Parts: sequence; structure tokens; C-alpha cells
Amino acid sequence: MTHLHPVQIVGAGPGDPDLITVRGQKLLALADTVFYAGSLVPEGLLGWCRPEAERIDTRSLTLEAILPDLIARVHAGLRVVRLHSGDPCLYGAVHEQMVALVEAEIEFEIVPGISAFQAAAAALKVELTVPGLVQTIILTRASGRTGIPAAEELAGLAAHRASLCLYLSAHHAVECEERLLAHYPPETPVAVCYRLGWPDERIVRTRLDGLARTTREEKLTRTTLYLISPALEAAPSRSRLYHPEHHHLFRASH
Ligand SMILES: C[S@@+](CC[C@H](N)C(=O)[O-])C[C@H]1O[C@@H](n2cnc3c(N)ncnc32)[C@H](O)[C@@H]1O
Repeated sequence: MTHLHPVQIVGAGPGDPDLITVRGQKLLALADTVFYAGSLVPEGLLGWCRPEAERIDTRSLTLEAILPDLIARVHAGLRVVRLHSGDPCLYGAVHEQMVALVEAEIEFEIVPGISAFQAAAAALKVELTVPGLVQTIILTRASGRTGIPAAEELAGLAAHRASLCLYLSAHHAVECEERLLAHYPPETPVAVCYRLGWPDERIVRTRLDGLARTTREEKLTRTTLYLISPALEAAPSRSRLYHPEHHHLFRASH
């Protein structure tokens, strides 16, 4: 890290503070100001910062409110880190921020992070690309307020029967299940992963036709990643881990 750009957009990983890259950790230690969304980025990560570093929790702020503050700090000669949960390139509204930085002629760097889908695969001890079974991973989301292009409609993506990682979809579990069932068999294994890497992490295994029911029973509305994949059945400890009726793994809540 010889020449540092004034703004570093850093992937924080999914939850556990240890799951940031070494580079991300070093940049946090050098930062004068850190912008982070408290609801998605664990406070523990801020332990890498200098005690005097300014910490700005953006959870209740709009992008329009954050950007002028961020730009003002750069103009004051401060080193700024913008921490993003998981990897910044996925569902992080980073595009809008980069456009604003380019317009303001501020140079920035992006430091990748571990995304929720990778944390899920690791927690489940599963390879998402098992030879002979599945060789494609699809990262997508339900069509909520943001909307998704027609060509990416979930039922169409389901036709590939790939390892499908569904972000931002807990509010739309019923529609998602319905659309995925257009092509995946009902018994396709699903892992419902809530707050991976956080102390209240919960992972529930079910079948595709139990995705919506599990979401309802577990009262999940946010920070949930669904992993739908034939590879889940191929996990080495299948007989212990998989059951046609879902059950809790790891830190079971009840
Ligand atoms: C705004 S997006 C950010 C995604 C993030 N950039 C990433 O790469 O993981 C938030 C969504 O990511 C997923 N997510 C992020 N962190 C998660 C975690 N620790 N456990 C489960 N899902 C998570 C959930 O689908 C959540 O609704």
C-alpha cells in the first residue's frame, strides 16, 4: 500500500470481525474517518481503528446525506474508509457512491470482502460447484422495490438448476418458492441462513417446498441468505446434516 487513495471502499465480510481481509484491516487502522452501517457491519470491526478515528454510523442516513459528509472530509485531507457488509460489489449501492466520487474527482480504491454466499457455503461445509452435479452459481434477489430486469426473472433462472444464492428476499419468500418450483424439484435442499457470523446466527436446512414455511416459522424478515442447491445434498456429512423435515444447525435458537 504505497500510494493510498483518499477513499477506500472496504468489504467488511458477513459478520465475524475476523473475516475482513488483511488489507481492509490495515486500511481501517490508518483511517481518520470510518463510515459504516451499524445494522450490517459489526462494531467489533471498528476495534481495528485508532481510538481517535471518527466513526459514523450511517444506518439511519440516506446516501444523499452521507456523500456530502464523506466528500467534505476528503477535502479536509482526511483518510476515509467506507465499510460495506460482505463484498462491496454485491447489493451495496456502491455504484451510486462511485458515480458521486468520480463527479467530485475523488480517487478511490475498492477492497473486496467475503460475501454472505461464501460465508454460507463455509458454514455448511459445502462446495457450490460439485463436479458432475452443478458447475454454476447464480447470485440473485427477489424483485422487491428495486425491481429486476425481466430477463433475470427467478423462474427463468431456476431453469438452470444451478447453486442459487438468494439475497434480500426474506420478505418475498412465498413468491420465491413458487417461482423456483417452476424448475427445481420440491425436494431440492435449501439452507436458510440468518445473520451468518453474528452471535445470533441461525442456519436451518429444509427443502425447496419448505422455504416459505421455514421463513415464516423462524420469523425471518431480514439479513437472510437462501442457498438453494443440489450440492447441499452432496455434503460429506449428509446423513447427519440433512433431513426431509428441516432442523437447526449450529447455534440453534430453540
Ligand atoms: C444489502 S445486501 C448486502 C450484501 C453484501 N454486500 C454481501 O456481499 O454479502 C444485504 C443482504 O445480504 C445478505 N446478507 C448479508 N450479510 C449476511 C449475513 N451475515 N447472513 C446472512 N445473509 C446476509 C442478506 O440476503 C441480506 O438481506
